[in-house]
Amino acid sequence: MKPLLVVESLRKVYHSRTGLFQQQTTVALDDVSFTVNEGQTLAVMGTNGSGKSTLAALISGAVAPTSGRLVFAGEELEAGNYRQRAQVIRMIFQDADASLNPHLTLGRQLEEPLLFNTKLNARQRHERIMKTLHQVGLLAEHMVFYPHMMSTGQKQRASIARAIILQPKLLVADEALATLDSSVRAQIINLLLDLQRDLKMSYIFISQSPEIVRHLADEVMIMKDGQVIEHGDVQDVFTAPKEQYTELMLMSELQRK
Ligand SMILES: Nc1ncnc2c1ncn2[C@@H]1O[C@H](COP(=O)(O)OP(=O)(O)OP(=O)(O)O)[C@@H](O)[C@H]1O
Ligand SMILES: [Mg+2]
Repeated sequence: MKPLLVVESLRKVYHSRTGLFQQQTTVALDDVSFTVNEGQTLAVMGTNGSGKSTLAALISGAVAPTSGRLVFAGEELEAGNYRQRAQVIRMIFQDADASLNPHLTLGRQLEEPLLFNTKLNARQRHERIMKTLHQVGLLAEHMVFYPHMMSTGQKQRASIARAIILQPKLLVADEALATLDSSVRAQIINLLLDLQRDLKMSYIFISQSPEIVRHLADEVMIMKDGQVIEHGDVQDVFTAPKEQYTELMLMSELQRK
């Protein structure tokens, strides 16, 4: 299998001012290294504050690392060069409302990334939008819908459409299914699995739910205090966790349901 994303010794330190002369230093990520292969899904689990969203922000380019390297398809990603990775790496978030603009129709929102990142003409853009709507299980009619006219499930489909319209190679999802009710969640999981098969995307899937991780992921990485403490096949890690932290986390998540 070919590596798609190679993460090398990624470190992120936040300095936040807590008073006139006081600064608080948080090591959000500490020497994180891993590889995601083409067409594979890596799940990232860990308790609150363990550094999962920081990792997602560094991969998507929203935040620059303090040190370390990101190599994508053999090419080093420059810190802060958002344009370079906008086409190949896209994110989806927990709250579909936050990633959709309430003032624009779905058609306009899907056209935006095409206008900014491609040379497609109006007809080609229209075709791409139609194709993408179909891929996520929405209809041509939804083009003229505003977000408030759609159900939660439709909105999550719309935000997935926005994420895949540039045909990225990697989708990073930060707790994207956490707030969905279980029937909608199952539909979205199946949609993500279908899209992965058809479009050959890789996923980095941040989730606290062992059930979702078991469904979606090939490998799982467990984070604690900014470090990776365990990484392996989902089956192996779930049946025989090496760390007690992992065992306790899995147990408490399963009890939560
Ligand atoms: N912009 C920031 N400035 C200062 N500290 C930050 C910033 N963003 C995150 N942190 C800190 O970095 C650490 C990791 O945070 P992060 O949001 O990555 O964790 P997480 O695993 O996503 O947590 P959660 O499960 O709550 O989403 C935390 O201690 C957090 O307080
Ligand atoms: Mg987070």
